[in-house]
Amino acid sequence: MGIVDELQALQSEALNAVGAANDLEALEAVRIEYLGKKGSLTRVLRGLGSLSAEERPAVGKVSNEVRGALEAGLEARRVMLADAALASRLVAEEIDVTLPGVHRYPGKRHVINQVVDEIVQVFLGLGYEIAEGPEVELDYYNFTALNHPPEHPARAATDTFYVRDLSGESAAVEGESDVLLRTHTSPVQVHVMEREQPPIYVLAPGKVYRRDVADPSHLPQFTQIEGLVVDEGITFGDLKGTLEHFVRELFGPDRRVRLRPHFFPFTEPSAEVDISCGMCDGKGCRSCGGEGWLEVLGSGMVDPNVFGYVGIDPERYSGFAFGMGAERIAALKYGVPDLRLFVDGDMRFLRQF
Ligand code: DAH
Repeated sequence: MGIVDELQALQSEALNAVGAANDLEALEAVRIEYLGKKGSLTRVLRGLGSLSAEERPAVGKVSNEVRGALEAGLEARRVMLADAALASRLVAEEIDVTLPGVHRYPGKRHVINQVVDEIVQVFLGLGYEIAEGPEVELDYYNFTALNHPPEHPARAATDTFYVRDLSGESAAVEGESDVLLRTHTSPVQVHVMEREQPPIYVLAPGKVYRRDVADPSHLPQFTQIEGLVVDEGITFGDLKGTLEHFVRELFGPDRRVRLRPHFFPFTEPSAEVDISCGMCDGKGCRSCGGEGWLEVLGSGMVDPNVFGYVGIDPERYSGFAFGMGAERIAALKYGVPDLRLFVDGDMRFLRQF
């Protein structure tokens, strides 16, 4: 076999070996086998010295071509194997760096404001208007014009937050004064009746304050919703019908309403209003303390003495009033066992509503 044939056979043998090398190590072995110091091609090229001067250029040319083809084949295979090796390493050594996402909750109205809105909507539907009054109130509006006698226990400094301490000056009783944080929304009744003549149909939601220690059923600051109707011919039946409508709108059509005689200084007669327990429907269970009924609000017919303070003629007009605690209503509606949950600001609780 001539040397040119030998070179060509070597080329195709070497290129086959390159194609068969399945990793970089095997490829390097192929390179050494053919192009290394003791490699097959090197050995053939060394033999060139023994060729005649005429043969040498042609054989030299072929051998350069073979070397070039071999080097190109090795490089192409090396790139391919290196890419494949990298790709399989990337898969094998993959690390999942995904973090648990940060969930941002959209803001929403506080549950108490939602319940107040709901109650407001029921009475707007009956044609009532919304009224407001100051949270820092005069004794006159909070107590006197609502027919509380001077010695009424709610006036005590142990029950009411007084803003100005006039002890030793004009206060009749130590620790009391003429300016206080309103203890209920009923003084709004007096403000409304002072500035408007009947017909009056108003609802007055707002914050109230009492010197109570917070416990499951008391908060020192809470929310009341006051209702007042004054018109010709208003009867106790109007009060009852209005409250029944309200209870069914807020708690559902199956709820029954019960009125119990009670006393409030500014209404006569007065009644406390209960709704049938939603758990046992009036039979008595643990949720209603065995009573079958849950107290929701106070109400009554406006006392003629109150009309006297605001200059409304009790011979011509009559009226009813009612007042309820929004936190208590919310607790009943949602089965919340402790009013403090509404003001603690724990978002795990508040987000539920
Ligand atoms: N103001 C009373 C309270 O805070 C609630 C109340 C009772 C309001 C009877 C009324 C009413 O308007 O007629 O306990």
